[in-house]
Amino acid sequence: MDTPRKKYIIANWKMNFTTGEASLYLDKLSKRIQPSRKVQVVLAPSTISLQPLSLQVNRRQFKLAAQNFYWREYGAYTGEVALSQIRGFVDYAIVGHSERRYVFNESEEDIAQKVAAAIRSNITPILCIGETALERKDGETAAAISNQLTSGLHEVSKEDISKVIIAYEPVWAISSNKNAKPAEPIDIIEAERLIRKHIAKLYGKDIAEEISILYGGSVNKDTAAGYLEIDGIDGLLIGSASLIADQFCAILEIAKGVKNERQY
Ligand code: PGA
Repeated sequence: MDTPRKKYIIANWKMNFTTGEASLYLDKLSKRIQPSRKVQVVLAPSTISLQPLSLQVNRRQFKLAAQNFYWREYGAYTGEVALSQIRGFVDYAIVGHSERRYVFNESEEDIAQKVAAAIRSNITPILCIGETALERKDGETAAAISNQLTSGLHEVSKEDISKVIIAYEPVWAISSNKNAKPAEPIDIIEAERLIRKHIAKLYGKDIAEEISILYGGSVNKDTAAGYLEIDGIDGLLIGSASLIADQFCAILEIAKGVKNERQY
């Protein structure tokens, strides 16, 4: 029997919540959210909160993700955190988020090394890609998406590609609290097609069909359904709205209810 594709709802808490606040918020969410086979909920708190939350969390209900890490095993890298130090706390790791690319000037090579290091550690990388407002204006969306996929995945073999999740996050649509314009479903449909086409070129058609593609950028409870109903969008990466329990729980309910035509 065919099983519907799993939806991923990823909460990126960014640099919000002290560890105490994060723990209280997790407690609040855990009382309101039932585990579901259809929806995988993943929470990405600050690195400092990963260890205590990993002791608190019910892993059948939520998985944890790292927002960032450094790809080398250990050594003289002041201020960085290695996967060996957080392995065991997390099942997922966000890689190449636009705030890392553009605020912290993370290079394409570092992003590729992080994707590869996560796979080596049995942690699922969520590779974020997406065009900037300027690239969009100049008609370079397709090139930006292809280039970021090619470079971000260049260390990933055909055997391992199914361990990667792609998040399409147009940079101009991220952070609704900074007046970003939410993306229209039509833009996302186009991007999802481009991504699968490029993955097909790199790894073959079957893999391109199977890979999970999420959308992220100013998603809230009013827009979530429109994005989740897009054929080929397998979930959401949520920033601001994930910090508000009512918003986040409402989005999860929507995700559980969405009819998904695509099967494995
Ligand atoms: P946002 O953030 O939902 O606040 O736009 C999304 C993200 O940066 O992943």
